[in-house]
Amino acid sequence: MVKELALFLGEMIRNPGDVRAIGPSSGAAARRMTLGLEGTEGPVVEIGPGTGAFTRAILKRGVAPERLTLLETSERFCEELTHTFPGVSVLNRPAQDIGDLGLTGVAAVISGVPLLARPQLQRELLGKAFSVMRPEGFFTQITYSPREIVSAERRAELGLEVEDLGMVWANLPPAQVYRFRAARPH
Ligand SMILES: C[S@@+](CC[C@H](N)C(=O)[O-])C[C@H]1O[C@@H](n2cnc3c(N)ncnc32)[C@H](O)[C@@H]1O
Repeated sequence: MVKELALFLGEMIRNPGDVRAIGPSSGAAARRMTLGLEGTEGPVVEIGPGTGAFTRAILKRGVAPERLTLLETSERFCEELTHTFPGVSVLNRPAQDIGDLGLTGVAAVISGVPLLARPQLQRELLGKAFSVMRPEGFFTQITYSPREIVSAERRAELGLEVEDLGMVWANLPPAQVYRFRAARPH
């Protein structure tokens, strides 16, 4: 735990724009972020795993390590993740590469990547993620801002519906979790 915190703080100081958090997410946030993964089939992709707070929870939900791929831009986090989670594919690549991995029928994408301040990344990432997702697949995102993370306009553009999974107060800072799915025709 102390080692994990030290690694996280070190990376936050080296790459504040990418890390954008003051510490790893809590167990409560990780449980909320991984809701619905039980009973899913097919690959699961986690983007921006950091020190693996959500990775642990994904595996606890019954996702076999072989089904899980992590995309993380920090080389140091990747080294630690590879060591901590045997059997999981840890790739030192940006989340935007999700469409280039040869994955299809993805059950879910679990995202800790800071998206709010990056509209271009948001559009690119959501578009690519849903292009490899199965129809019932979902994209779960954490955010620390009370602002709506993906505007109604962008959701309409990308054909997405959003579900608010609520605020997690037991996290520093308190976090909001949203789940996106392909919109069903009305
Ligand atoms: C706020 S931290 C979250 C870490 C972890 N999920 C947690 O909740 O404790 C954001 C993480 O996203 C990674 N990251 C930022 N931009 C990324 C990108 N484009 N692709 C993949 N990882 C990215 C950072 O290196 C960092 O590990």
